[in-house]
Amino acid sequence: MRNPMFVPDERTTELIFDYCRRRLSQDPVSLDYGGTRDLGSVLEGLLGSEGHDPAAVLTLFAEHLATAVISCDSPRFFSFIPAAPTKSSLLFDMVVSCSSLHGTSWLEAAGAVAAENQALALLTRLAGLPAGAGGCFVSGGSLGNLSALVVARDTAAKRLGRSVDRPRIAVSSETHSSVANALSIIGVAPFLVPTTDHRLTGAALRAALDADPTSDDVVGVVATAGTTNAGIVDELSSVAEVAGERALWCHVDAAYGGAALFAPSARHRFRGIELADSFIVDPHKWLFAPFDCAALLYRQPELARAVHTQHASYLDAMHDETAPGAGVWNPADYAFHLTRRARGLPLWFSLAVHGTDAYKDAVETVLELTRAVARRIEAAPHLRLVRDPELSVLLFERDGWGDEDYRAWSAELLSRQQAFVMPSRWEGRPVARMAFLHPDTTFEMVDDVLSPMA
Ligand SMILES: Cc1ncc(COP(=O)(O)O)c(C=O)c1O
Repeated sequence: MRNPMFVPDERTTELIFDYCRRRLSQDPVSLDYGGTRDLGSVLEGLLGSEGHDPAAVLTLFAEHLATAVISCDSPRFFSFIPAAPTKSSLLFDMVVSCSSLHGTSWLEAAGAVAAENQALALLTRLAGLPAGAGGCFVSGGSLGNLSALVVARDTAAKRLGRSVDRPRIAVSSETHSSVANALSIIGVAPFLVPTTDHRLTGAALRAALDADPTSDDVVGVVATAGTTNAGIVDELSSVAEVAGERALWCHVDAAYGGAALFAPSARHRFRGIELADSFIVDPHKWLFAPFDCAALLYRQPELARAVHTQHASYLDAMHDETAPGAGVWNPADYAFHLTRRARGLPLWFSLAVHGTDAYKDAVETVLELTRAVARRIEAAPHLRLVRDPELSVLLFERDGWGDEDYRAWSAELLSRQQAFVMPSRWEGRPVARMAFLHPDTTFEMVDDVLSPMA
């Protein structure tokens, strides 16, 4: 007798597809409440030796668990970095799930890898990297940064023409926390470059290197194209120029901001990204793809392949260029991973269905909204814009407010389901922060956030 778990089951299929259809047709997606409820009693005893009716389990999920999230894809989600996956990318994510693709190697999934590579090539062209640049999709910006920095470290001796015992990599105080974690994991110390106005520049990098007599252990630099807290784009061209002079690996963390490469009104801010040795951009942030998806790209992917390829007797067939169907492009060779979901496919499908002009328009819509809201904040006598937005993050202050006021304002907005906004800090002070990514976010929705500050 067949194991029933592997027999197609029409009833469960219908239940799940119906649920998905309903979730996909929520318009707009509701915000909901996140981790504010006690869920222990809901789940108690569920996983045991006997199974349950799928309808009952799905109802439990729909009624108690699915609403116990704050939906990042709501156009009223303004905290952290939200998400705004297109409907077609979400639908295609279901195709990826149903197909259980093993996106590790050309041998196992050439079709999926070819499509992912087409999407990656579009991103390298947008950034202006030369033909031949490439990489792979990884789970997130954190893994992208880690994987690129391993290559920066392990190629240093060849690049510099000498070995470096204790390498350091230059960062600024605004560099994303995942970079500090990655450096700690790979045993590389940060070389902190002081910035003026929170932006890393080539001049500051050069001055910091010149001022430190031991700086010949610095082997790379991380520039950020869209800092998470304030959306600041570092001076990429001058940073890359200094990196070039000193044979430093130049990595650009464009996890959030890289989407604005699509936007003519913001493209000038990224001048110099074409000189990067590696860069990341997260489609699960502002390129309208579902979680989890980050693009990791190298100017010379063969350097990354030499560092990341895993060797084992049972894996060698994957790398044997002479074996039929093997070895053309193995995504596993370009990052710290082996088995991987073909997570670039939802982005690929959505790009193919909608075309790049739709992406350009969607990113520009968000940038225009951000500028309009900035003007609205500037016009309000009780509000102060902390700095002009470069991308789609706004930091602003309410006269006389402290931490408690911002916390109460944030809690009240969520309880009224008007917005999810979390305060942040700027130069030691509590401030309000909004990050926009969803093209359906309207000026009126944002006004719901600003009005209670009057
Ligand atoms: C600039 C930047 N780099 C890296 C990351 C980490 O990306 P992930 O959360 O996808 O690991 C983030 C996340 O917000 C980010 O904003």
